[in-house]
Amino acid sequence: MRRMVLVGLDSPILHCIYRAASIRCTALVETEHSERVVSVSDVQPPGTKGNSDPGANREARLALTRKFVTGAALLCALVLSNAALADDFDRGRALYDLCKQCHGVDGDGARLFLAPAIAGLDQWYVEAQLKLFRSGARGTNPDDVGGLRMHPMSQWLKREEDVTAVAAYVASMPKQAPAPEVHGGNVEAGAGLYAVCGSCHGAKGEGDQSKNSPPLRNMSDWYLVGALEKYKAGIRGANPANTNAVLMRGMANILQSDQEIKDVVAYINTLNE
Ligand code: HEC
Ligand code: HEC
Repeated sequence: MRRMVLVGLDSPILHCIYRAASIRCTALVETEHSERVVSVSDVQPPGTKGNSDPGANREARLALTRKFVTGAALLCALVLSNAALADDFDRGRALYDLCKQCHGVDGDGARLFLAPAIAGLDQWYVEAQLKLFRSGARGTNPDDVGGLRMHPMSQWLKREEDVTAVAAYVASMPKQAPAPEVHGGNVEAGAGLYAVCGSCHGAKGEGDQSKNSPPLRNMSDWYLVGALEKYKAGIRGANPANTNAVLMRGMANILQSDQEIKDVVAYINTLNE
């Protein structure tokens, strides 16, 4: 009976601890756990298994078992709130298996697939863009080759929770600094042009959620060029359902030529962390 209770407690407690506790906490439990496994076999009714008399050892182990269960339950209560988060994180990681086909295992992007670096992008922005793709407010313009690729991918995320989980996972990935692929930009000229951009995207390209403006540093430069071209051409930012893109379309028109686009992107490349 006692054994059943202990075993019953076993998996949820360990599950939650292994998922959510700090490394130190996990190590602690692992040590105690190996002791406890011995204890559990000792609690079996005499005769059901082996015959060696645990004797005094048995009592000591039982005490240890009880101590462990109490301790583990306390730990579990402490980390329970984090356990849900950890589950989301695991779900996000699992969902990212799809994303990595194009965005790369490290989230550094792949030009071949037109998929930009996304590792370490702010969660609010990833979430917002996934919702826009899902609703079709982004990625449905017939001239938007990249967007048309991403739009159906976003629809694999069936639930709001999936969007949040994968966005949290993407945001947790270490930022990448993809090797520059756009050449011929003038950094100094770009710095001058960037002054106005920085009022929304931040002086260091770090983004500003209060202005719905994503970070621009640590992105794929070829993607930034492509995005600016798309805004200017109205391939992105023509759908009134996407108000931020409509706003940004106006800003992109500040850039007068392909050269100015390259210049500003060359400057943004220097902001990479
Ligand atoms: C088939 C390839 C492919 C897969 C798989 C894919 N994406 Fe994309 N993704 C793209 C492309 C291409 C773009 C660029 C769209 C554009 O040019 O506007 C993109 C754009 C994005 C953006 C916008 C980035 C920005 O800076 O605005 C986010 C966020 C994103 N993807 C997240 C994801 C997530 C999360 C997954 C997995 C659920 C995923 N993608 C799966 C191809 C893919
Ligand atoms: C008034 C604020 C504002 C200014 C100024 C501004 N932007 Fe933006 N920018 C935004 C917003 C908001 C978005 C998000 C648009 C969207 O969701 O499509 C954005 C998006 C972008 C994107 C797409 C990023 C991505 O990950 O897909 C690029 C590239 C960009 N801006 C570059 C620039 C450059 C270069 C300048 C200066 C010439 C500039 N922006 C000026 C607000 C601004």
